[in-house]
Parts: sequence; C-alpha cells; structure tokens
Amino acid sequence: MGNRTGNKILAIGGGKGGVGKSVLSIGISVSLAKKGNRVVLADLDLGAANLHTYLGIMGRTPSIADFILRRKPDLEEILVETEIENLRLISGAEFVPGMANPAHWMKLKMIRHLRNLDADYVVIDLGAGVHFNTLDFFGIADRGIVITAPEPGAVMNAYGFIKAALFRKLQSVFRRHSVIGPLIEHEAKKGEKDGRLSLEWLKGQIELGAPEMIPILKEIEESFAPALIINRVPEGHTHVLVKNLISLCMEKLGIQIEYIGNLPDVKEMPFYLLNIPKLFEKDMGKPYFDAVEKAVSRLLSPLQSAEPSMARIKKDFTDEEIEKIISFIDTLDDSIFDNTNKEVWKLRMFFKPEKVISFLEGKGITHELFYA
Ligand SMILES: Nc1ncnc2c1ncn2[C@@H]1O[C@H](COP(=O)(O)OP(=O)(O)OP(=O)(O)O)[C@@H](O)[C@H]1O
Ligand SMILES: [Mg+2]
Repeated sequence: MGNRTGNKILAIGGGKGGVGKSVLSIGISVSLAKKGNRVVLADLDLGAANLHTYLGIMGRTPSIADFILRRKPDLEEILVETEIENLRLISGAEFVPGMANPAHWMKLKMIRHLRNLDADYVVIDLGAGVHFNTLDFFGIADRGIVITAPEPGAVMNAYGFIKAALFRKLQSVFRRHSVIGPLIEHEAKKGEKDGRLSLEWLKGQIELGAPEMIPILKEIEESFAPALIINRVPEGHTHVLVKNLISLCMEKLGIQIEYIGNLPDVKEMPFYLLNIPKLFEKDMGKPYFDAVEKAVSRLLSPLQSAEPSMARIKKDFTDEEIEKIISFIDTLDDSIFDNTNKEVWKLRMFFKPEKVISFLEGKGITHELFYA
C-alpha cells in the first residue's frame, strides 16, 4: 500500500452548494503539483462527483465505487492519471446506490487508505452540507479549508459548517469518556437555539467534571483551525461579513479561523468547466490561479515546519491497534506518567497517537505497534 512516511491531507469544505469548492480543490492540487509535489485529488463528494469532468477526463476510468464495492481492495489501484504531471485523481464518476452513505467501517477504511496513499499531498473535495461523512473527512485533514461567497446566506452556511465540524470532532474525541461524552451528546441534541456547545462552555464543564481532560481540549483548540477563503471577491478587499464570521467563530465557538485570502471572479469560468486546468493557463484565469497559489503558501507555512523526526512513527492506526496500545499503556507503571494522568494519555491515543508515542519514547518505552 505504498510507503508510510505520511502525506498531508487538505480538505475543502464549506456549507453551501456551488460556492466554488471543486474548482478551488483543482486549483490547490494543480498549484501543489506544479511545484513538484506528488498530489492525489480525491473526489469525496460521494454521489455528486464532478472533478473528472472539470479535469476533462472522458470515458470510463476506475473510481471510488470500485473501492466501496470492494472490486479493488486498495485506493492506489484506482488512481487515474491526469494531464497535469504529478497529479492523480480518485474519481467519483461511477454512481452506485448507497455510495453517498458508506458504512462506518468502510468510511474508516477509506480514511486509513487516504492516509496511507503514497503522495506528498492528498486534496479532498467535499460535498455541500453537513453530512457526517463530509464532517468526518473534513475532521481527519491536517488542514481544513472553508470557502464561501461574501453573501449573508453563504457566510452563515460556512459558520454552520465550521460549528458542525467542531461538534463532530469533539464527539469523536470524547465519545468514550464517561462524563464528557454524554454531556456533549446531550447538548448536541438540544439544537441550535441556546448554542451552549462552545469550547468555552465545554472547558467550564470539563473543569468541573473531568479536569484531567483540559490538556486534550487545549489540543483540539490548537489543532482545529480551519482556513478561510472568500470566493469571487477582489484581492485585498475584506468584506464585513467575513470579519463577522471570524469573530463569531471566536466568540461563539472559541476557535481561531485563519483567513488566507480571496479569489477573484473569473467571468469566463463557465466556459472552462470541461477543463479547468486549461483556464489557469490563460490570461483570464491567471489572477484566480495566482490567488490560489498565494493562499496555498499561507496555508502551508506552519505545516512545512512540522517535525521531521516524527516520520517513522506510524501516522495512522486501526481501531484495533489503538485498543492494543491502550491496553499496553494500562500495563505501564503510573510513575511513568509523572503527575499527568494516565487516563489522559489513553484518551489521547484516539486523537493524537503520535504525541502519545513520542511521549512514551521520551521515557524509553517502545512497542512494535508504534512504527510503520
Ligand atoms: N471565482 C469564480 N469566478 C467565476 N465563477 C466561479 C468562480 N468559482 C466558481 N465559479 C463557478 O461556480 C460554479 C460552481 O463551482 P464549483 O463546482 O467549484 O462549486 P462547488 O462548491 O464545488 O459546488 P457543489 O456544492 O455543487 O459541489 C461553477 O460553475 C463555476 O464556474
Ligand atoms: Mg463540488
């Protein structure tokens, strides 16, 4: 299944349909590929895929349906070459019933295979809306990118998407915690009206009921920082709605949004929907592509400085491996964990396994399951 040195996953989402996610995902992928990165663009708008069309790929090719129906056991086998050097596509072209809602185990398998793809970057194009699939694929990305138009409806949708993605992340991290898990579920069921489920609120609850979990919450706070792009707005122009969105996310959810730029309107774009990369080469498409490149370089500056020494530690674990490592942690002496709680480290295995492993390594403890 390719090498395991780790790729970086970028996911493009955002509430509303038609705001420009798919064109942007192509822009980002082409920009990375042209810099010599090996890129896989994955069309995970399951059931409404269109990247193959946008890339000018005609005729029958392998697609994600082959993987979902288990005709092909490995994602590597369904990659489709594109006209762009270094850029391969996971096509969503073939529609099969039930495909838009793969079973949970299949979703986990897809995630595992995406993480193990032999590439420098995996760019995921997501569908509109806040389906669990969309939120889960967004949640596994090293960076999530939200794109919106500067209209009130679209901006509110972007907010709804960010909020839903945060909830889903909190749910998945704390799902096995006996106090915090049920609290989040209870709050989530109440719906939008009283809107208490902010990180601030959760922090208060955790301080009361499970103070040893505060470090985990801090990590979520630091790692969940979607990047924001505004479509069809000239460069340098910040719209008041966007400022509102950023402060709303800060005040209501307690999360920091990184605003990475605007993309200009290209009135000829509708004429290039059968070959978007071609548009990027034309004078009229250049301002859009330049803006994408700028946004990508802003987006990636912190990623590129990621610790290289982590590379040989496995980047991804199956649920079974995680359970095994947790049982292993259980057998370790409490004193290894100093005054930090062992339970915290166990829970962190679901969230940041690399961190747990480098902590244990620092204490001279290793296990064969840690390494690829
Ligand atoms: N910067 C732009 N300038 C002009 N037109 C644009 C721009 N960005 C996107 N469009 C147009 O908007 C339409 C929708 O774009 P795209 O398919 O990328 O949206 P989407 O968010 O992926 O939609 P969906 O939610 O249906 O997947 C396309 O027809 C494209 O031509
Ligand atoms: Mg799309």
